[in-house]
Amino acid sequence: MRKILIATEKPFAPVAVKKITKIFDKAGYKVTLLERYTSKTGLLEAIAKAEAAIIRSDIFDAEVLSAGKNLKIVVRAGAGYDNVDLKAATENGIVVMNTPGQNANAVAELAIGMAILGLREMFSGKPGGEMRGRTLGLHGFGFVARNVFRIARAMGMKVIVYTRYSKAAAAAIGLKVTSSLEDLYEKSDVVSIHVPARGEHLKSVSYEVLKHLKDGSIIVNTARKEVINEPDLIRIMEEKPGIKYMSDLTPDMLGEFEAKFPGRYFFTPKKAGAQTAEANLNAGLAAAEQIVDFFEKGDTTYQVNK
Ligand code: 3PG
Repeated sequence: MRKILIATEKPFAPVAVKKITKIFDKAGYKVTLLERYTSKTGLLEAIAKAEAAIIRSDIFDAEVLSAGKNLKIVVRAGAGYDNVDLKAATENGIVVMNTPGQNANAVAELAIGMAILGLREMFSGKPGGEMRGRTLGLHGFGFVARNVFRIARAMGMKVIVYTRYSKAAAAAIGLKVTSSLEDLYEKSDVVSIHVPARGEHLKSVSYEVLKHLKDGSIIVNTARKEVINEPDLIRIMEEKPGIKYMSDLTPDMLGEFEAKFPGRYFFTPKKAGAQTAEANLNAGLAAAEQIVDFFEKGDTTYQVNK
């Protein structure tokens, strides 16, 4: 009987756990649930017995992957897999997959919600602004950005995008692709960031880009904190006192934001973008089905460490 570990420090909605378990029951696999764990020791013990694991933002570093002596596959139920050491996984012969697009609508709705929160001055009673008629700049054009586009357009926003890899997809739906990242930041009232924490995107939101922002603009980050150069963001927020930063990721320099920018930032207490029952179901069930397809049919469609 194959042994499957669901290791989620931030648990899925119970309905998702129930349906994921049902998929594995049907396949004749045994499920172990490790939720809200507070120490790495518990994870190391649990992974030692597993042949497959479903995870979220759980850290699967070289130590965890090496402890998975029987581990064949790890599926990150979600988009970003920067929490998994791909090199160590490959060295240990472990396939790593994600579930692209499955939680995108949930993250997009949070991005829109945070943009509104910022525009409405944190609902403080101060007069705010409306989304309709404003320009939204999408930094990146993956699944989340496409959902943000759909919602923003329905709200009457003008939407523009900067993307290197999805130009054709953007053009196909009549979306204007700016000539540079600087151009995107200059023209936007709200910038929503949708690039992964790897390669050229790391710290790509630097002073050279941020200096083009209008005073009064809002930056929404539901991607990763690593794509922001935080000292540069602090510098531009000091120079332009109307800029706000809304993020689903707590910055490393939280203390500076608290001390310098009251009323100009919002950080979710725990990463909340994908934390809906719908997103948990979509991503969790996709992960379970990918594991069954991998074992039963050798399917590696969503492998990210090829
Ligand atoms: C993702 O990369 O899919 C999102 O950041 C969601 O992360 P979570 O599963 O930890 O909520």
